[in-house]
Amino acid sequence: MTEALSPYVFMNGEIVPWAEAKIHIFTPAAKYGAAVFEGIRGYWSEEDDEMYLFRMAEHAERFVYSQVAMRFQEIVPPDEMIARTLELVRANDLRTTVHIRTTAWVDGNGELGARGPTGFAVTAVPRALPKRVTEGCRAQVSSWQRIADEMSPMRIKCNANYQNGRLATLQARTDGYDTAILVNSRGKLAEGPSMCFGMVRGGRLVTPSVTSDILESITRETVLKLARDELGMEVVERDIDRSELYGAQEAFFCGTGWEVAPIVNVDGIDLGDGRPGPVVKRLQEVYFDVVYARRADYADWRTPVYGTAQSGATARAAAG
Ligand SMILES: Cc1ncc(COP(=O)(O)O)c(C=O)c1O
Repeated sequence: MTEALSPYVFMNGEIVPWAEAKIHIFTPAAKYGAAVFEGIRGYWSEEDDEMYLFRMAEHAERFVYSQVAMRFQEIVPPDEMIARTLELVRANDLRTTVHIRTTAWVDGNGELGARGPTGFAVTAVPRALPKRVTEGCRAQVSSWQRIADEMSPMRIKCNANYQNGRLATLQARTDGYDTAILVNSRGKLAEGPSMCFGMVRGGRLVTPSVTSDILESITRETVLKLARDELGMEVVERDIDRSELYGAQEAFFCGTGWEVAPIVNVDGIDLGDGRPGPVVKRLQEVYFDVVYARRADYADWRTPVYGTAQSGATARAAAG
């Protein structure tokens, strides 16, 4: 059993102590990876004395999509997913930035073709700001290819998909890098093991399109919108060759877990001067201002957990 990272877990209809959140080894989830999940962030604002869940509605929608694509018999609906997440964060009384994981899985004793019953759990654990966000990371273009959409639905979050990125991560670490970038079956850059990827070249933000065997990332969509609307950048979604990256001025990973993290070196080649560059730093600034509610706009992307948010950015803006 793992060490408790928070007091409680929501598990199949009840809130239970961390140690009791177990599934059986014979479930299709354990045997075949028949499970799907969402990773969500809750950002704690000291100033507002409030936690904000970021883009909860979009996560709930993708959670349903993942279950449908993996042909689950009973689907955990969006309102249930959101209500249980709020309930769990409150039960743990978390007042720090957290990473939330909602998981739906094929429970019971079924064989490979089993489609239910559906189990449903939520965890929420504290997550501090990692060094990769502040200092950047070094990436290796992996010899592992990203699994293609015609092999398995890689645009959704099925647990079984993650062995692909896990092997790329292990290879990168063995070879002295922090993480990996995988190419797709057409040999074009796709994404990292658990995050999307973009680069700055010639003043434009360039990123692989959603038909590049990447996950349909909520952070990617957020960052592209912020780059267009807040930085006034031209955003291009297209195929990217490996060698183009070596000529990029800047690059970054983005995702719920990775937030916006500069890539400072690829395959041993420094990008720019080998330190986080101005465009990515500006993107990070805007991103963190939005998720932490330091600005009043984009409020519909933030779900307050404790209901104390009236004194937050909106009030500050009203007060001028
Ligand atoms: C493979 C993969 N790509 C990209 C992402 C980024 O997706 P999102 O921004 O929705 O978290 C994730 C999850 O964080 C992921 O697991």
